[in-house]
Order: sequence, then C-alpha cells, then structure tokens
Amino acid sequence: MGRPKISIIGAGNVGATTALMIAQKSLGDVVMVDIVEGMPQGKALDMSQASPILGYDLEISGTNSYEGISGSDVVVITCGKPRRPGMSREDLLFENARIVGSAAEQVKRYAPDSIVIVVTNPLDVMTYHTWRITGFPPNRVMGQAGVLDSARFRYFIAKELNVSVEDVQAMVLGGHGDTMVPLPRYTTVAGIPIEELMSGERIRELVERTRRGGGEIVELLKTASAFYAPAAAVAEMVESILLDKKRILPCSAYLSGQYGLEDIFIGVPVKLGAGGVEEIIELKLTDEELSLLHRSAKVYREGIKALGW
Ligand code: LAC
Repeated sequence: MGRPKISIIGAGNVGATTALMIAQKSLGDVVMVDIVEGMPQGKALDMSQASPILGYDLEISGTNSYEGISGSDVVVITCGKPRRPGMSREDLLFENARIVGSAAEQVKRYAPDSIVIVVTNPLDVMTYHTWRITGFPPNRVMGQAGVLDSARFRYFIAKELNVSVEDVQAMVLGGHGDTMVPLPRYTTVAGIPIEELMSGERIRELVERTRRGGGEIVELLKTASAFYAPAAAVAEMVESILLDKKRILPCSAYLSGQYGLEDIFIGVPVKLGAGGVEEIIELKLTDEELSLLHRSAKVYREGIKALGW
C-alpha cells in the first residue's frame, strides 16, 4: 500500500513551506512543480536531507514537468505572482488567471482524480477559474483562505486576552479580501463568546486588523506576501482530507443556493474529509452578516465575469 501523494504547483515561498509542513505531518509523498529549472529539485533535496533530523520517511521530489503530478491524491495550486505594497489581491487577476489556468489544465490531464486546493490570489476567483477549467465536481475543488483569516483573528484575540491560541476558536467567512466577514458571534475562548470578554470597540479593531492581515505583512516584506501562516493553513486542510478527519473549517467552496448565493466560490464553513468538501455548513446569520457576505460575493462575481465565465 503506497503512501498518499500530494503535489504542489509553484515551489516559491508558499509552495515550499507547504511542502515542508506537509512532510512534518507525515501526510504522504510530496512533489513540487515549478518552471524555474533546478529550484524545486534543490528545495526537495534540501528538505529530504532534513528528514533524518525532523523524522519523516517520505519521498520529497521536485520537477519542472507536470507529468510528475500523475496519480496525485491532492494538488495544491500556489503558482502566480504575489502582491506588492499598495496592491490589492484583485490587482493580480489577469496575470494570475493565465498562470493558474495553465496549471489547472495540467491538473485535469495528469491528476484527474485529485482534490484541488487553490491558494493563488485573488483567491475566490482563482478557485472558480480552476473549477471551470478542470471540470471537476465542485466537492473536489476548494480555496484556502478562511483557515488563514481565522488563524489571524485567533492570534490577535489570544494576544489581546493573554490566553493560549489553542483555546481561541474563530470563524471568518466571505471572500479572501477586504470584504471578508469575521464573525465575532461565532468566536469563542474555551467556549466563552468573545463579546463577554472584550469591548465591542476592541473587537471591531481586531476585526479590522484581521481584514488587513495579509496587507500588513506585504507592507513589511515589500517584495513578498505572507507564507508561513498560509502554508500552515493549507497543511491543516490537506491533513483533514487525507486522514478523513471531517473537520469543520472555513474554505472557499462552491455554493449552489446556500446562503442565497449560487455559482460562486466564497468562504463558508465546510466539512473536509476524504471526499473533499463533503458538506457546506449553513450558519444562521443575522441580516447584517448575510448582507456583508452578499456584498463580498458581489466583488468576486465581477472578477469571474471579467475572466469571461
Ligand atoms: C495573505 C495573502 C497571501 O492573506 O493573501 O497573506
């Protein structure tokens, strides 16, 4: 019985860090694909040489050819350009649609049975684009965003209250952009709603910092965007799929009427297991929360239209 196979398209900061985190969880053999000659091979060799110290017995390889992804159980698409200071995630639309589109064609060709996780920005639109190009059933295509955005919110809350990050649970819905919808009502510390622990004003400030979470890092790094937390978020999703854990995590998922939205990918809580997105969880939202989610969806619908879908 072979190990599961995880392929990662794009061996830049996000792709390579994801590969390492997946290896550290011993989830399966990892293949990194990148157009830069020698780069995925070099990073794979380096990670393999770390294995005696870190303790994973896996094949980690790099290649410049898509044939290497054949038979993958999970494919993670990270290729594309990152934001630079002053850019929004949406500014990357056309350039990344071309790059992600050609990756999606190769995934369809070489890994037709895989579950695909998209990470490239603008996230929700790139996920839709990938779904259309692969023609995969919607349960096998999803975008990573909500796990990252929720992790940022959880971290800020834990710091504020001086409690362990482990005890903070949070839910962030909507698109991965300025219109994301953090839900304080569904955010708790060891089961206690944060509204009992913090002033409304402070919650609003942390919500705002979460919305700008990625941008704050781009401003600091200048030539790159975040990668440790995005990679950790992907690794958690891959783990839930390959171990069939059925975790409830916010992901960009295809909606067909849930939340009053259809034919769009947007961040909602889903059950992630061996079947990919096994269920979309419909929270009871207030009118205000629902209208924020719809406002977010409107932005992504425009992106989808701009790509001609
Ligand atoms: C972020 C970018 C990568 O949120 O979307 O950090």
